[in-house]
Amino acid sequence: MNINEIPTPSYVIDEGRLEDNLKILQSVAEASGCSILLAQKAFSAFSEYPLIAKYLAGCTASGLYEARLGAEEMGKENHVFSPAYKESEIEEIASICDHVIFNSFNELERFASKVYEIQKVRGITDGIGIRINPECSTQDEPIYDPCAPGSRLGVTEKNFRKGMKERPEVFALVSGLHCHTLCEQDSDALETTLAAVRERFGDVLALPQMKWLNLGGGHHISKKTYDRDRLIRLVKGLKEDYPLNIYLEPGEAVALNAGYLVTEVMDVVDNDKQILILDASAACHMPDVLEMPYRPPLKDSGLPDEKKYTYRLSSCTCLAGDITGDYSFDTEKKRGDRLVFEDMAIYSMVKNNTFNGMPLPSIYAMDAGGECRLIKAFGYEDFKNRLS
Ligand SMILES: Cc1ncc(COP(=O)(O)O)c(C=O)c1O
Repeated sequence: MNINEIPTPSYVIDEGRLEDNLKILQSVAEASGCSILLAQKAFSAFSEYPLIAKYLAGCTASGLYEARLGAEEMGKENHVFSPAYKESEIEEIASICDHVIFNSFNELERFASKVYEIQKVRGITDGIGIRINPECSTQDEPIYDPCAPGSRLGVTEKNFRKGMKERPEVFALVSGLHCHTLCEQDSDALETTLAAVRERFGDVLALPQMKWLNLGGGHHISKKTYDRDRLIRLVKGLKEDYPLNIYLEPGEAVALNAGYLVTEVMDVVDNDKQILILDASAACHMPDVLEMPYRPPLKDSGLPDEKKYTYRLSSCTCLAGDITGDYSFDTEKKRGDRLVFEDMAIYSMVKNNTFNGMPLPSIYAMDAGGECRLIKAFGYEDFKNRLS
């Protein structure tokens, strides 16, 4: 079956593109000497983990469930960061994660010795980290800026110094720092950030107890215009100045432009403008379109009025604002026509929902030859099982 024959709505993972991205990431890891992990929050299509495992060092998680998925399906290095952990989950986390990263000295105090003891039995003695906040904003969107004033994410320099001084026994268990501040950015933003990290935390990184530095995600490494040479230079520079293992944990860059959402026109409504009712929804199937917000690329389309026929793309939900955007086409659209949204592998399947009882799109994988195979289909039971 090819992409024009599969039922709609369906996500299609483009394995050729995925592998192209993975090759880029592997080459950066090799050239710079860093380790690259998949951030599962962006892309958790675990049927592709065997492919991803061929190129990356492992994966990272936002909590217990993603950590379990990484342990079960990837089986390589397994890292986790969460702003807070629960007493009930920390033992399991310590027993399946190689790096457990805390967000505060309170959390360290609460859990670090337990994690240390469990990891030691597994032969791991450098698995505890703490997230820093270098207070260096390199973007204007507060919703995506962990360095925005009042951020809960990462320990600021002032609080870090206080924690080191007042709780030296828990700080002694820390072997690494974690820093995530970027979102879809080039390596110039990383350069600016690293200057702040060095200035505020350079002496901490130089302590003999420090073994690693994790530079988080948000590195748009597989984007055509990304300056990879600078990234490689920056990582090498860090390794020259500090004897540390360097980690990057991109999500987007792993599956950038490596997926589609295939949808069908169900009706055309004429009300001042022409509105297409699709069987895919921004609110349910591509929530980042409304949250970011952004305009997803759509195959064979143009900006409004750029081509002959302009339509507003909408869905079957009740939300008036469930609008993916205004697009133009060379041909008039009618019921049964298919549209293909692009760059739909990341932050799509991991975020979708069944609001209004909307069906979840099936998931297909497309091989390099264009052949699509069904990975999973969803039905009424998947909707019902999440309700009570
Ligand atoms: C701690 C952490 N690591 C990694 C990532 C992945 O970021 P991206 O998908 O933008 O590369 C995120 C995204 O929010 C994050 O919060």
